Amino acid sequence: MAAARLRCLISYGRSSPNGNEEGLFYALDLGGTNFRCLRVQLGGKERRVVKREAVEISIPPHLMVGGSDELFDFIAEELAKFVATEGEDFHLSEGRQREFGFTFSFPVRQTSIASGTLIKWTKGFNIDEMLGQDVVAELTKAMERKGLDMRVAALVNDTIGTLAGGRYHDDDVIAAVILGTGSNAAYVESVLAIPKWQGLLPKSGEMVINMEWGNFFSSHLPLTEHDHALDAESLNPGEQIFEKLFSGMYLGEIVRRALLQMAEEAAFFGDAVPLKLRVPYVLRTPVVSAMHHDMSSNLNIVGKKLEEILGITSSIDTRKLVVEVCDIITKRGARLAAAGIFAILKKLERHKASVDKPRTVIAIDGALFEHYTIFNKVLQSTLGELLGEEASDSIIVKLAHDGSGIGAALLAATNSHHIGL
Ligand code: GLC
Repeated sequence: MAAARLRCLISYGRSSPNGNEEGLFYALDLGGTNFRCLRVQLGGKERRVVKREAVEISIPPHLMVGGSDELFDFIAEELAKFVATEGEDFHLSEGRQREFGFTFSFPVRQTSIASGTLIKWTKGFNIDEMLGQDVVAELTKAMERKGLDMRVAALVNDTIGTLAGGRYHDDDVIAAVILGTGSNAAYVESVLAIPKWQGLLPKSGEMVINMEWGNFFSSHLPLTEHDHALDAESLNPGEQIFEKLFSGMYLGEIVRRALLQMAEEAAFFGDAVPLKLRVPYVLRTPVVSAMHHDMSSNLNIVGKKLEEILGITSSIDTRKLVVEVCDIITKRGARLAAAGIFAILKKLERHKASVDKPRTVIAIDGALFEHYTIFNKVLQSTLGELLGEEASDSIIVKLAHDGSGIGAALLAATNSHHIGL
């Protein structure tokens, strides 16, 4: 993964979560078209997550490409509304300030456990004035403007949150993968294998690496003309090439481009090219998923979606071909994502069968993995194919639903001002 950047987190914190965390903590998750606010009451080793509540808010598209203050004011305001709904089941110890983990899922140069500067935007965000700025400082200023008395105790990427959350429940989690709007992975590495790390060595001898694998590029990647065109016309040309091959933000757009070519060159939808098919990003991944999973004999759902979204009246043969296009593009993506996971296992030498091979768990979060069943199944079967039957036995791929939110709250607890765990 030559193009992947390396970032370290655990060494900045007092420690990683160990299960003893207690109290009320929040998490704020920003990284896609929606952001989530979450609160958890942690009950220590015995009771673990006693109660949790979350809300999901969609970000108005103009805020993703506008000014920094506008975006952070909106977030702070929504967070304040969520905090105002805190019920009596949640207890903040007396005299304590509310603290939270800020999951900010973009490439960041992390400067301490609760600070980091934005390297670049991905996934359709583009706010120039934020580049090089400390994202925690910006959010803190917005909270002050809104009169919200809260403190960011940890800044984390969603992969790191998922890894921390996954490990809290299962010690054998060694890597976390996000398959959502974007895609990325993090894993636990021995410090001795990280020559790039020049700081103090953590006592555990281990460190987490946020791979930013979405930015992976290699001439071996099977790029088609549609991938090249999608990239060239994106907000970040030449970047995030691996992510653009399969993540939720782009999968539907690749399908649209393939269908458009079929319409233009082979009159696939009749003599005229449907106008709506020319609109970038009009075909979203959840729609592709719905069409792909249509099991009805005359592909009713495919027909309905083509009509509703693209204004196309279709025959059964056309519908079948549309499903085939979804199938080819989705399977390519799932196989590439599986290859990424296999690469991590190989790096950690956990890809071969052996008598004493430890149980190895990969925690995966993100709507693409959670809701796109065929993608999920193909990813798992490809991983099995790459590992071989025997080695697959000890490898478990597990959905970590909202793993990143819980993980961020845990990391906030571990790095709280109030408890020196
Ligand atoms: C993008 C971001 C990365 C994040 C991933 C998944 O690739 O650059 O930081 O982890 O999306 O949300």
